[in-house]
Order: sequence, then structure tokens, then C-alpha cells
Amino acid sequence: MNKLRVCIAGATGWAGSALARGIRSADDLELVAAISRRNAGKTVGNVIGIAGLTTPIFGTVEDALKTGPDVFVEYTKPDVAKFHILSALQKGAHVVVGTSGLSSEDYEEIDGVAKEVNRGVLAVGNFALTVVLLQKFAEMAAKYVPHWEIIDYAHAGKKDAPSGTARELANRLSKIREAELEIPLDKIDGPKESRGARLQGTQVHSVRLPGYVISIDAIFGMPDQKLILRHESGTSAEPYVNGALLAIREVGKLVGVHRGLDSVMKF
Ligand SMILES: NC(=O)c1ccc[n+]([C@@H]2O[C@H](COP(=O)([O-])OP(=O)(O)OC[C@H]3O[C@@H](n4cnc5c(N)ncnc54)[C@H](OP(=O)(O)O)[C@@H]3O)[C@@H](O)[C@H]2O)c1
Repeated sequence: MNKLRVCIAGATGWAGSALARGIRSADDLELVAAISRRNAGKTVGNVIGIAGLTTPIFGTVEDALKTGPDVFVEYTKPDVAKFHILSALQKGAHVVVGTSGLSSEDYEEIDGVAKEVNRGVLAVGNFALTVVLLQKFAEMAAKYVPHWEIIDYAHAGKKDAPSGTARELANRLSKIREAELEIPLDKIDGPKESRGARLQGTQVHSVRLPGYVISIDAIFGMPDQKLILRHESGTSAEPYVNGALLAIREVGKLVGVHRGLDSVMKF
């Protein structure tokens, strides 16, 4: 069996190193390249402590792509993510995006390029199975409840806001309808920002405070009743590994941008 050749941009990071371990344990996948500026020239095994994993680390996407990966995984930072993704598509790789912070406009541009080169991009704001379930339940709720808002919580140092999970949820709900507002934003008494950011038809509020780990509330309100769908992440990157492995195995069947792990799951 030919193994799928994978490159991880960000393989030395918190999320990328857990995924590198997952790929190492998979019989059908081979980690052929990694990207990290600070560890260029070393091997992934040396940096993340896996004996025998000799995958080379490159400092640039151009060099990493010379290894000819079938699938490129983007797990770095939003300021370079789009460049990495477009470079990988142009070199013929399918792309799995874990990095958060890309906008819907970014994904529209990436979609155009992916379709031109006949490659798939699977962008997943959160690879955890329980988040996929939250997304599904929220979509069901939005069909029946016209008013909702999202609150995304994270530690003070999380730079991107809203979180990838919140952006993806807003994007999905926009396909059902826009959330209704009893008082339009331009009729608010007080600063409009206090009602959060309007993202694809959903008010999204991002709390960034010490003491918080990543979590999200999707709140659906009706007169005298409300439904709160809440997801809480733990502190390890383990919940994201299986979802990312599934995305790597399935992205080759797609063309263009698809958002959400359920694009390749059966429900
Ligand atoms: N979709 C999901 O389920 C999920 C789960 C967890 C995290 N995330 C997202 O994934 C991203 C990474 O998170 P993390 O916590 O793993 O971050 P991290 O621990 O800071 O790791 C970032 C990695 O990217 C590399 N990197 C950073 N800037 C780079 C650049 N300009 N060029 C090349 N490599 C660069 C870093 O290596 P060097 O600094 O050496 O370059 C490092 O290997 C974030 O956007 C986060 O929100 C998504």
C-alpha cells in the first residue's frame, strides 16, 4: 500500500506535534516534511522527542514543498496561513487547514485557486468530535429558533478573535438563515460594539481573560425559554488528532474549499 505523504506546517507546535505523533502511529500515512522557522535543519523526532522519526524540518514552505507531499497540513499562524495554503495548492497538494483566524473572504479566494488546480481544501475550525456535534445541534436549533448569539472564551494570550470554532459556526448558521435582532444595531442606545461583532449574520462575542481555557456557548433564545449549547476543551491537543487524521485521509476526495469535519463524516 502506498502511504499518503504528509507535510505539517507547525509540526513543532502544540497542536502540530500531537498530530505528528498521530501520523507516526498510522500505518497508511508518512510524515515527509515539516515547517518551523526556529527548528529548520533539525528532524521532527529530535525536536518533539520521538526516536527514529527523521522527517526533516524546513524553514520555508517553498523548501518543504520540494518533498512532494500529497497532503499539506496548515497548523501555524493566520498571518502566514493563506500564503502556505496557496503555495501548497500551486504545487499540487491537497490541504487541511487547522489554523484559525482566516476570514470567509480568505476562504473564497482559496476556493477559487483550489478549483483552478482541481485540489481539495478541508478547513476545520475545531477537529474535536464533540465540537462537530455542537455544530450539528446548533444547525438543528437555528432551523426552529430565529434568535441566537455566540460567545467564545479563551485565555488572555489568544491573539485571533473570534476563534476558528466561532467563525466556522457563524459560517454554518449563515447557510440556514441570519439571526434576528429585536433592536437593529444602528438603533442601540450606547456603543454598538457592546452587542458584539456581526459575523455572517450572527452576533459573536469573544472573551479573552486569564483563567479561561477554550470554550464556546451558542445561545438560542425564545420568549421565556432558552437553549445553551456549550463546548469546553481540555488542556491537551489530543482531542484534535483523530479528526485531523480523518481530514488528511479524506481531503483528496474533495475539490475546492469545504469547511467543517462533517464534510467528510457520515451522519
Ligand atoms: N482546528 C483545530 O482543531 C485546532 C486545534 C488547535 C489549534 N488550532 C489552531 O492551530 C494554530 C496553531 O496553534 P498552536 O497552539 O499549535 O500554536 P503554537 O504552539 O504556537 O505552534 C505554532 C507552530 O507554527 C510554527 N510557525 C509559527 N509561525 C510561523 C511562520 N511564520 N512560518 C512557519 N512556521 C510558523 C511554529 O514554529 P516556529 O515558531 O519555529 O516557526 C510552531 O511549529 C492556531 O491558529 C490555533 O488556533 C486549531
